[in-house]
Amino acid sequence: MLVGKFERALTGEGAGRAACLALRRVICHYYRHQGRQMAWRETNDPYRIFVSEVMLQQTGVERVRQKYAEFIEKFPDFPALSAAEQRDVLAAWQGLGYNRRALAIHRSAQIVMETFGGALPRTVENLESLPGIGQATASSIAAFTFNDPTVFIETNVRRVFIHFFFRGREGVADAEILPLVAETLDPEHPREFYWGVMDYGTMLKKRYPNPNRRSASYARQSRFEGSDRQVRGRVLKVLLSEGPMNTADLLAGLEVDDREKGEIILQKMVAEGFVAEESGKYRLR
Ligand code: ADE
Repeated sequence: MLVGKFERALTGEGAGRAACLALRRVICHYYRHQGRQMAWRETNDPYRIFVSEVMLQQTGVERVRQKYAEFIEKFPDFPALSAAEQRDVLAAWQGLGYNRRALAIHRSAQIVMETFGGALPRTVENLESLPGIGQATASSIAAFTFNDPTVFIETNVRRVFIHFFFRGREGVADAEILPLVAETLDPEHPREFYWGVMDYGTMLKKRYPNPNRRSASYARQSRFEGSDRQVRGRVLKVLLSEGPMNTADLLAGLEVDDREKGEIILQKMVAEGFVAEESGKYRLR
């Protein structure tokens, strides 16, 4: 019924504004009746919301649910995370993938303590100054923490708007979507609005061929098997479980077909600050 109304709004007089308001109603209705429960939606704690948004950048909700609870138990606030050893943060991050985020979130907690007096900055601009936080994450954190009506696009937002407004179109640019998000956003209830969009987008993904294939920003996640990402993950896993190791043992543990490739990856990880190399041994920092 609601989608029928939406179709009419999209084609009628004053299509733009009316269609956005119709979509807002679809989303709010969906969230009220089928919104998902998540621990980070039941808190106003800036730290907890910050952690959840960084985890959700590249990891699915179901995986995040479990790792988030463990992470919050180990590091309950900015002081605890900022004072932690990097290797303990990396250990808690295992299973979430894209481990650079663990280093970034650790460093962010230190910056919050040192530069912002222990309080998560309130503006998108200051949030964006933290490592690993781009415009979209800074905006989602501001919306979910402070209920600010920020305008942003992430994967579910993109999916919903392409589905409703760009039927049959290919190569849809984010710049075309952004003004529609601004118009559709419920300025009184940005948190609920974005939660609803994310839940609706997740539902669409299950029902339709992914509309995000029609986005100009669409990129499939690269294959994990045989990738550098897989080898990098193994480096951390081996060093976390075995402690410091010499080059030969570590390379043997990585199961790379090409020794030179393994060495290049290790050197990169040293440069990025994941591992340290000292008197022929590699260790976590
Ligand atoms: N709820 C709050 N933030 C979310 C996100 N980034 N993805 C999905 N659901 C969320």
